Amino acid sequence: MKPSGIRRFFDIAYTMENVVSLGIGEPDFVTPWHIRDAGIYSLEKGNTMYTPNPGLPELRKAVARYQQRRFGLSYEPDEVLITVGGSEAIDLAIRAFVTAGDEVIVPEPCFVCYDPIVRLAGGTPVAMPTVAEDSFRLNPVRLKEKITKNTKILILPFPNNPTGAVMRKEHLEEIAKVCIEHDLLVVSDEIYAELTYGGDRHVSIASLPGMRERTIIVSGLSKSHAMTGWRIGYALGPKDAIAPMNKVHQYAIMCAPIMSQYAAIEAMDNGDDDIAMMAEEYDRRRMLITEELNRMGLPCFEPQGAFYVFPDIRSTGMKSEEFCEKLLFSERVAVVPGDAFGASGEGFVRCSYAYSVQTISIAMERIKRFLDKLDRSKS
Ligand SMILES: Cc1ncc(COP(=O)(O)O)c(C=O)c1O
Repeated sequence: MKPSGIRRFFDIAYTMENVVSLGIGEPDFVTPWHIRDAGIYSLEKGNTMYTPNPGLPELRKAVARYQQRRFGLSYEPDEVLITVGGSEAIDLAIRAFVTAGDEVIVPEPCFVCYDPIVRLAGGTPVAMPTVAEDSFRLNPVRLKEKITKNTKILILPFPNNPTGAVMRKEHLEEIAKVCIEHDLLVVSDEIYAELTYGGDRHVSIASLPGMRERTIIVSGLSKSHAMTGWRIGYALGPKDAIAPMNKVHQYAIMCAPIMSQYAAIEAMDNGDDDIAMMAEEYDRRRMLITEELNRMGLPCFEPQGAFYVFPDIRSTGMKSEEFCEKLLFSERVAVVPGDAFGASGEGFVRCSYAYSVQTISIAMERIKRFLDKLDRSKS
């Protein structure tokens, strides 16, 4: 396996001084106080033990309540599995269901972990490029072309990291038809479900007719509640899908940390205002960064979800990696090469706007200066 393209780049940036980073996909907010307080209180009460493998019953109930309230999804507590971040939920969903010879369709560009986890499970990842002209959405006709008799799972990574693309209900309906026709299991990564812009709420494919029974939703609190370090995620699915995932989880992890689980109960039940505050702030930054990048001649697909923009850098005549390296060494701005998210990300770079307006503004000035020094008329 290749090392993560995101990490490799940041290992270099960390050794340099005065670097302005738009690189990491992590909220710049501290976890809201009432959630931290619940974690501290749980420690004060002496909660330092293992919990049941699938998570505290109160938390599984709280996640079910939250999903019903926020997205209209109905899951029983025993259809919820608490994991160590959304990352573990993805790992479990793939490892529990993929065996040698299975093919897993992975829409790209996408978060970096699906492909290597499928390989570790002995399966074959099948890259399914999405393109800016299609608003980086998964196209049902192209999806069909990738399906073979060995295709078992479709990964559905929307709202998308790194493009900011979302799939609306009418787009999901087309994909659902294909999944039902070809009897595919869907692993829907909805970790950015709370971060959609322009008034439309995220719709889960599991809410469409015939899809609940063939969908595993993976999600977590890292992005929505600024809780990356607490390592709490979860999977939602029918009992007979959650049970084998819990077996892998039992042997590999045992359970998520108890104090984080208590903090998560508070987040699930009383964190809606925090989500709204953070999403509003990201939206403001989204407008700022998209406008600035477009103005300096790096065309940007307007992101509708998550907290990334994915500008097209092809007019510079450079490959993504060369662009990022030169930008880092000459202007000390760290962004991530688009091809770190799959071959179809070549020609683009990922900028995160989970950074302060001040950081974004300095980065924009430096990127503009970098572009001004290039002679783009040649390309
Ligand atoms: C699309 C996507 N899924 C899952 C994760 C994993 O999040 P965590 O393990 O922190 O919950 C990330 C993190 O960046 C992500 O971007």
